[in-house]
Amino acid sequence: MERLPIITLDGPAGVGKSTLARRLSALLGIPCLNTGAMFRTLALRLGPDAAALPAEELRARCDAFAFALEGSGEDTRLVCNGEPVGAEIATEEAGKMASRLAVSVPVRESLKAAQRRLGAASPLVTEGRDMGTAIFPQARFKFFVDADPDVRAQRRYAELREKGEDVSLDAIARDIRERDDNDRNRSAAPLRAADDAVLVDTSRRTVEEAVAFILAEIERKGGLPAALSHIREDGGVRMVDVGGKATSERVAIVRCLVDINEETLAKLKEKALPKGDALATARVAGILAAKRTAELIPLCHPVRLTFADVRFSVRDVPPGVLVEAETRAADRTGVEMEALVAAQTAAAVIYDMCKAVQRDITIRDARLVYKSGGRSGVFDRRSE
Ligand code: DC
Repeated sequence: MERLPIITLDGPAGVGKSTLARRLSALLGIPCLNTGAMFRTLALRLGPDAAALPAEELRARCDAFAFALEGSGEDTRLVCNGEPVGAEIATEEAGKMASRLAVSVPVRESLKAAQRRLGAASPLVTEGRDMGTAIFPQARFKFFVDADPDVRAQRRYAELREKGEDVSLDAIARDIRERDDNDRNRSAAPLRAADDAVLVDTSRRTVEEAVAFILAEIERKGGLPAALSHIREDGGVRMVDVGGKATSERVAIVRCLVDINEETLAKLKEKALPKGDALATARVAGILAAKRTAELIPLCHPVRLTFADVRFSVRDVPPGVLVEAETRAADRTGVEMEALVAAQTAAAVIYDMCKAVQRDITIRDARLVYKSGGRSGVFDRRSE
């Protein structure tokens, strides 16, 4: 019997499982478990010779690593023996070592017990290769994520290049094939879709589309049990289904004020603050924040922004900065949350850039001044 809700995402490398798992866990308010990270951690800590150890000794060595999850959503951290698992596991090399170690039965048995302990302690979005088949066969919400191997190679290539790794597309494509072979053809818990898993093909779906598809599927199967989900404890909090609404051009503008004193204002204008150019930094932060709104506001839909900007008017009397954020999208839902998050993040960055020279800075009057699109018509308070 399934006790706590478990959402399983299985699939090969490079299909976007981790991104989907993190987004889902943020939206649903439950922790996310990346089981590949557990294999990678063991592979790095045990070293390349571990697979040759006698089974009992290898099992005992694996069991000596205690895994735990801290936090939730995007901020879930995997902890091993009290230390957070970090970027050291995110290399291609660590992935290959993990794939080789993952054929070992004692390693899989040890991690199976650890993964089930985590699933018994908390609801989970869990991703890996055998979550729906071997680890949580009783889970109600099972998904198999797949994508065209060429698309996967391209994505992996772009990701690694962005991280500064010197890789070739051909080598990545070869590695993906090799890893697929390893993962699909091993005898211990090979990668395959559970019979009752729903296929999610991400070749031609954006992350937002794949997330929406999975959420709709969860809903179709009755949703998360009300008493166990953080966001539905009172039964009254749920994401509005905007699937039936018409797409239209959406625009939102939000303003807020940052009050600073004359000396701080002079330094800000001369770009003489200790941390540097406050407004340029705040502008970039506001734009970045607009793009991440759906990850911060629990019931906010992910929207594909077509435009985001943050502008500033520096005022001498009273001294301060008027922050104005504008967001746009062609969507079924408004973009005022994006503008609100952008303006307030930009204001917080101005605060941060100025706080070394002034302690009594005030951020105030965050408000929507313009909104258009959707059924409610135009709202315009820009001249007030
Ligand atoms: O998802 P990943 O690339 O981080 O996983 C690294 C390797 O770990 C993968 O090639 C196979 C193995 N693995 C596994 O066998 N079973 C899992 N549940 C997760 C990962």
